[in-house]
Amino acid sequence: MRPHIVHTVAEMIGIASQHRRERGVTGFVPTMGYLHEGHLSLVRAAEERCDRVVVSIFVNPSQFGPNEDLAAYPRDFDRDLELLSQYGVNYVFFPTPEQMYPEGYKTWIEVDELSAVLCGKTRPTHFRGVATVVAKLMNIVEADLMFMGEKDYQQIVVLERLIADLNFHTRIVRCPIVREQDGLAMSSRNRYLSDDERDRALCLQQALQMGRTAFENGMTNPARVRNIMAEHVHNCGGEVDYFECVDPDTLQGVPELQSGTRMLGAVYIGKTRLIDNIAL
Ligand code: PAJ
Repeated sequence: MRPHIVHTVAEMIGIASQHRRERGVTGFVPTMGYLHEGHLSLVRAAEERCDRVVVSIFVNPSQFGPNEDLAAYPRDFDRDLELLSQYGVNYVFFPTPEQMYPEGYKTWIEVDELSAVLCGKTRPTHFRGVATVVAKLMNIVEADLMFMGEKDYQQIVVLERLIADLNFHTRIVRCPIVREQDGLAMSSRNRYLSDDERDRALCLQQALQMGRTAFENGMTNPARVRNIMAEHVHNCGGEVDYFECVDPDTLQGVPELQSGTRMLGAVYIGKTRLIDNIAL
């Protein structure tokens, strides 16, 4: 089924109000495009649970920092559309930056504390951009269920807080991380990796697994486990941004590892920054 492509906010709002009259469950999968199996797993989950599915493709400028990869971020709308045509996607919302941020745009949403830790330390304006664009998308699409991947674990926690605090009616459905056969978490950014870097990129997932094994063998001191993970990445020629062992809801570091603790990591392989996480 070829989805209907929606280019303007006004048209998407019109479609959403028609859906409201028709009732049924609207599923929504927000993306920045350049789709891979991780994104498509969300589409499948939405298709299974919802009466209609909206996918958005929007490379959101406001979540990129000044020295980040906005211009270089991979884009291929025709390929994305072909992939989505293999599923029961009803609408692809594909706005321009001018549609989402018209001249005179001034409003930003900040989710305190949760946005400042982990990725927020090196990307101080990132979650403000994410929170703002997703709030706008939730208002425009009027989805009942929004399908998001645990690959971006902090993003989910930030957005769940936003939804609760601002009384949005959309609910997030958390979906598991989809990985390549060798364990590397799928990401649009993996395409930046050279062959050699692609091999080394595995160290992030391996480090998290080593952390989990250490915990399973009785190590509960977060500093010691973080050292094991960081050392592995160093040995593989990667550079650590952070490894943290946090409470899954507050994202605050835990004094002692326990079942349910979330371990998250961000590393640079060459110039490419990769993230991953696992639950204990
Ligand atoms: P993007 O990176 O395109 O990701 C869109 C959705 O796909 C997110 O929910 C993300 O967690 C999920 N995803 C990406 N890789 C995945 C994987 N390997 N397994 C499972 N899910 C995966 O996240 C964004 O876009 C943006 O911040 C957005 C929410 C669209 C706001 O601009």
